[in-house]
Order: sequence, then C-alpha cells, then structure tokens
Amino acid sequence: MPNDAIHVRRAESPADYRALQDAQRRAWSLADESYVVPVATLVGANLHGGLVLGAFLDDGRAVGLSFAFLGKVDGRLCLYSQLTGIVPEYQDCGLGTRLKLAQRDFAARDGLERIAWTFDPLQAGNARFNLAKLGAVGTKYYVDMYGQRTDALNAGIPTDRLLVEWEVSPTPRAPLGANELARLDRLIVEGPDGPRPTGLQGRPDRVLLPVPGRIVAMRRDDPGGAAAWRLALRSAFLEAFGAGYRAVDFVELPGGAASSRAYLLEGAPLPSPTPLV
Ligand SMILES: CC(C)(COP(=O)(O)OP(=O)(O)OC[C@H]1O[C@@H](n2cnc3c(N)ncnc32)[C@H](O)[C@@H]1OP(=O)(O)O)[C@@H](O)C(=O)NCCC(=O)NCCS
Repeated sequence: MPNDAIHVRRAESPADYRALQDAQRRAWSLADESYVVPVATLVGANLHGGLVLGAFLDDGRAVGLSFAFLGKVDGRLCLYSQLTGIVPEYQDCGLGTRLKLAQRDFAARDGLERIAWTFDPLQAGNARFNLAKLGAVGTKYYVDMYGQRTDALNAGIPTDRLLVEWEVSPTPRAPLGANELARLDRLIVEGPDGPRPTGLQGRPDRVLLPVPGRIVAMRRDDPGGAAAWRLALRSAFLEAFGAGYRAVDFVELPGGAASSRAYLLEGAPLPSPTPLV
C-alpha cells in the first residue's frame, strides 16, 4: 500500500461524496456510469439512519467506501450494506476490515443487532473476507439478483448472490481441524465433465460446499466452466438452505485439489418430535 495516512470517517461534504463516487468507479472498474450511487442517495441515507463511510487521504481523495442504509431481513431490523469497496492499489492492507469494523461500531451505537450484505459466492476472496475473517454467516441465496451487469466482476454471468448476516456481537467459533474437515461430505464433486452437485445425503450436522480456485481467470479463459460452477453452486446452496443449513465459515480443504476451498455449512437442530399422546 502506498505509504499515506488514511482516515476512515463518515462523509460530510459534497466533495467527500464525489470522492466516494470516484472510489466506487475504481474499486469495481465501472464502465457504466449508471452503477455509480447518486450523491443524493448517499446523502439521504447518511442523514437518515444509514451510514456512508470513506477511507480518505489527507488530500481529500478516497481510496475506499462503504454505503449502508437501514433495512430488514426476515422482519428483523438491520444495517444493510450495499457496497464496500477498496481501490485496487489499496486492497489487502486491512482497509476493508477497518471499514467493516467502523460499520459495526456505528450499528452497535445505533442499537442495531446485525449488518447484512450480499456478495458473489463464487468469489473466494470475498467469501474468505466475509465469513472467515469477519465471521458473517450466509443465510439466503438470491438467483440472478441484479440481472445482467457489465462491470468487470460481473460481466457475462448471472448475478447470483449470497446474503450474509453479521451479528454486532458475534459468538466466536472454534475452527475445525484438518481431520474433521476431511471427513465431511462435499455437496459438489469435480469430474471430467466439470462440477456436479451430489445432493444432500441424509442430514449430517456439517457439510462442505467447495468453490473453484481462481474464478477470475476461469471466467476469462473458460467461461463455460465458470457458468457450470455458477449453476452447481446455485443448486447446492438452494438445496442446503432449503433444508435449514447456514454457511458458517469458509475453509481451506486438506489435499490441495483444484477446488481447495469451501463453505462450511451447518444444519439447524431439528425440532423436537411432537409427542403422540
Ligand atoms: C473485498 C474487499 C472490500 C476487501 O477489502 P481489503 O481492504 O482488500 O480487505 P482486508 O485487507 O481488510 O482483508 C483482506 C482479506 O480479504 C480477502 N480478499 C477479498 N478480496 C480480495 C482481493 N481482491 N484482494 C485481496 N484480498 C481479498 C483476502 O482473503 C484477505 O484475507 P486474509 O488477509 O486473511 O488473506 C476489497 O478487496 C474490494 O474492494 N474488492 C473489490 C470490490 C468487492 O469485491 N467488494 C465486495 C463486494 S461484497
């Protein structure tokens, strides 16, 4: 990361909002101006229950942003985070984490119990950031949530999204060891014809849902393979969520296969049987 002081703070002025629009363009390599959040929308949210944060340099430029408004998931109030992005040359230096922790402090001060957002479940980097690093939990799957998009991360593939919910006071979880992970069923196996969902076999407490490595390169070099993974992941997530599972972690798999990372899904306890008499 360039050696600049970076201030994570709320947007306050028209110049701040315009700097954040610029950061959004750069973080997502946007070619289509219609994806840029209008200043009026940012201001409206920031003044009325939402939160617009920037990672600002001393000269006023922004190198990261997050934009969130008040929302509900299954009737429960939350801060819904529409965007969190860091411009490429400042990624992977802890700034995304700083923005999310600032969102969490804000939600806690405002009496909100959770923050929710969606991301593309094929993006293993984002999955690691959201589930493994922050401790958010995947609870819903949206098929082609936004329809076709043209930005670099989304062009040419249905915009399926995983909804994650992040408790303001999360319960820490003990990671599973390699031996335990190796014993778990996998909901997708890779054969010569590509990825294939296996279907849930019984109702194990935990299952793994593998993702491909290097999806960005795959989408460039093998778009058919990337589309097959999209459909396999979609089918497995829909079945697992329908059966009451939640994605509680994102793990490295022992063995180092091509799809060497996976969502760890846990089932909710079954309701106690109703007594017959
Ligand atoms: C996802 C994103 C916000 C993370 O911010 P960041 O400042 O790079 O994240 P941090 O440095 O705080 O944390 C890095 C973690 O994020 C993960 N990550 C996600 N996307 C990444 C990327 N493109 N490059 C590097 N790391 C990425 C890494 O696995 C890393 O975990 P590790 O440190 O344990 O290895 C940022 O990479 C980004 O803006 N990406 C492009 C836009 C986007 O995808 N936004 C999220 C949509 S929900």
